[in-house]
This record gives sequence, structure tokens and C-alpha cells, in this order.
Amino acid sequence: AGDTFKYYSEGEWRVSSSGKSVPIINPTTRKTQFEVQACTQDEVNKVMESAKIAQKSWAKTPLWKRAELLHKAAAILKDHKKPIAECLVKEIAKPAKDAATEVVRSGDLVSYCAEEGVRILGEGKFLMSDSFPGNERTKYCLTSKIPLGVVLAIPPFNYPVNLAVSKIAPALIAGNSLVLKPPTQGAVSALHMVHCFHLAGFPKGVISCITGKGSEIGDFLTMHPIVNCISFTGGDTGIAIAKKVSMIPLQMELGGKDACIILEDADLDLAASNIVKGGFSYSGQRCTAVKVVLVMESVADILVKKVNEKVGKLTVGPPENDCDITPVVTESSANFIEGLVMDAKKKGATFCQEYKREGNLIWPLLLDNVKQDMRIAWEEPFGPVLPIIRISNVEEGIHHCNASNFGLQGCVFTKDINKAMLISDAMETGTVQINSAPARGPDHFPFQGLKDSGIGSQGVTNSINMMTKIKSTVINLP
Ligand code: G3P
Repeated sequence: AGDTFKYYSEGEWRVSSSGKSVPIINPTTRKTQFEVQACTQDEVNKVMESAKIAQKSWAKTPLWKRAELLHKAAAILKDHKKPIAECLVKEIAKPAKDAATEVVRSGDLVSYCAEEGVRILGEGKFLMSDSFPGNERTKYCLTSKIPLGVVLAIPPFNYPVNLAVSKIAPALIAGNSLVLKPPTQGAVSALHMVHCFHLAGFPKGVISCITGKGSEIGDFLTMHPIVNCISFTGGDTGIAIAKKVSMIPLQMELGGKDACIILEDADLDLAASNIVKGGFSYSGQRCTAVKVVLVMESVADILVKKVNEKVGKLTVGPPENDCDITPVVTESSANFIEGLVMDAKKKGATFCQEYKREGNLIWPLLLDNVKQDMRIAWEEPFGPVLPIIRISNVEEGIHHCNASNFGLQGCVFTKDINKAMLISDAMETGTVQINSAPARGPDHFPFQGLKDSGIGSQGVTNSINMMTKIKSTVINLP
């Protein structure tokens, strides 16, 4: 066993009174890499109470000063790129280069958020009463955006730093305090990121980080009466949270089955490279990964050949060597992926490569001629396995995309912009990318899912707005 990392409460690093820890298993070695504190419900209460008190004075701190602190945290975060990236490699087996990119992207996001916050929170509205029937010009209404209070942030394992700061920075710039519950895999990277905020000098209680078992403190956190807003990214747990919580705003992103529709006139080289990048980056463990290819039968053979050539070039191995395909996050995840592969095998899918697995490491696999009755046509593997469904017309592709319970993103490859626009309109997803694989970034773009893919919209501006509410003051003239 490695070190046990402290949690962060009331501006200090603390050891839990539980005397227990939660192990973090390195996906590559499958051995305990780190341990974090298993916090108790009492400790959650303390964090919440201090967050509530801290928020009152934080909201009164001038906006420019809040921005200044965020800029400072962003710079420190970038300075700590190396050690944080090393943690990401060990905790979630993210390829070394991608791990470093995640940290830099996070610093940029925090800075952008500070700038955007200064702009959009620095102005309000002024309305006059006589535009509504029956009123004279006797009421002047002034609006501003005020914070919600305490925001609870729950990011997922695949971006424990980036999807944490995408919640932290908007919350803090808007004058909220924030409690972070990091994922178990990724908790140490997240704690290190919180340390950067600590070094920047945020007042105690404005940001806290509580670690522990979801089974012990998960519901207690999400149903805590002090929490005024939850921003969650992850899987089905989000649906369970939404059913349990009280009347507070929720921002949720819960996965997807992003479809990639390839028309006959598509640039097939462009499509193939995007399919490989979109389907296999971080071994397919992205909500926005390409999770099903819907290709017109007439170009399917050529496309599959091109994709296969590129799949053959992917390097497979440990994240330290910056391999393209690295072990998936847990053994149970690898087992789940294997279950989908075996189901497809039983039902007659064409295996473009041989299925190969060693521990949590699964070799990239393209499954051709996938049919509607196969689980992989509908479920998200969150692994390096990509199904191809051959379609005889565009409507079939759109129908498959819309029959999914997910609706995060989708993409279409064609040289005909008119067709692309019509398909985009028809696809029931939060975003449609034309001639590129789905992706969340740039991080100021709106990012949202329909149906089971979530509620609310993210992206810097939308997140800041979501974490505020409108306050009006009306001046009544005699
Ligand atoms: O899986 C998390 C989701 O937000 C994906 O982000 O940047 O890989 O498109 P990205």
C-alpha cells in the first residue's frame, strides 16, 4: 500500500476520524497505488457548515478579487502539470501526453472562467414598467446575478481534474462556495488540484474536498440540506441522484452513445481518422467517444478497410509509455466490455481483429456487421471496442441514433452542407458535429445531452449562469 492522502476541510488538510481509508487501484498494475481518507458523515457535516459560512463573505468579495484568485490558481495548476499528470497516469491509466494536456486545459478553463465571469457577472439589466400593458412608467427594475450558495461538484474518473475545475471555477467566480467529491480513481489527482487552489490563497471553507466511499457518504452528500446545487458528471448514478434530491438546480452529464453517420459522398480518409480518434482516444473512455458508426453500405467496405489500417497502428500498453490504448479503469469495467464483445460474437458480428485481453488491458477492436439485436448496438462499452452498423439509407442511421436512450452528441460526414444541416436537425442529441468526431471542447462551447444523457447545459458561460440566480430590485416611483 502507498501513502494515505488527507482530505481538505476548513482550509486544512485532515485525517479522517474513521481511521479507515479507500484504496486506489492502479489499472495497469492492479495493485493499490494510493489511499485516501474514508470520511464520515460527521466530517461531511463539518465541511458543509464551513462552506455555508464561508460563502457569505466570499459572495461579498469583489468580483475582480475573486477573478484574481482564480487566475492565480490557474497559474499554479499549470506549474504543477508534471506531478498531477503523473498521478493521472497511475490512477486512471491516462496516456502520459493526454494527462499533461488535461492539466493545461484545466488551467486554461479556470482562467477563461475568471475572465468570462468578470464580464457576464459584472452587468445586470434595467427594465421599465410601461412596456407591459396597464402600467405607467413608475417602476424601474434592476436585476443582477447572485450566487446559489453551496455547490456540490462530483466529477467522473475519466477527467478527475478537468471535469472538476469545469464545476469549481464557475461556482467560485459566481460567489458560491464549493464542495468537491472526487471519483475514487482520480481522487489523488483531484486532491493535488485542490492543493493548487489552497496555495492560491482562497479563504478557508470556500473550497473543500471530501473523499470516501460512495456507499457511505454518497447519498448523505447529495441529499445534504446545505447543498444548493449539484453539478455531476458520470453514469446512471446521476439518474438516481436526480430522483432523490430536493428542489435544487442540477447540472448533469451522464454518458452517451454518440453515433457517427457516414454518407456516400464523405471524405472517407477524414472520416476514418476521426472514427479512430473519436472511438479509441483514452481507450474509448469518454462520454463523447464515437460509440457506433452508421455507414452507408455502398462505402462501408472502403471505410472499414481505412479504419482497420489505422486501428492496426494504435500502440497498446502502459500509459507511462504514452501508448494509445491503455488498461481500462477497473477490472469490472473490463469484464463489462468483454460481456458486450462476447454477446456480439454469439450473435454473429464480424471481428476485424482478434479479441485480446490481459488484465484490464483490452486490445482495440472493430466489430463490423453489428445488428440491432446485439447489446453493443445500444450500450456504451466505455472501452476500446467500436461497433459498425451498415445502413442502406440516411433515415436508417437517424432512426438508430434517435432510438437510443442517450442523446449527447453525434456526428455526420458528408461534403453536402445542406444534407448535413438536415441530419443535424433530425438527430436528437445536444450537439451534432459536422465532419469531425464528437467532443466537448473548446470548453467555452455549450455542452449538453438530451434524454438520459443529462440535464442542463455546460460550457463556461452556461455553467456560470446555471450557478447563479436572478435577483431583482424594483424602484417604485410615487
Ligand atoms: O467523458 C467526459 C466528456 O465530457 C468528454 O469530454 O473533452 O473528451 O470530449 P471530451
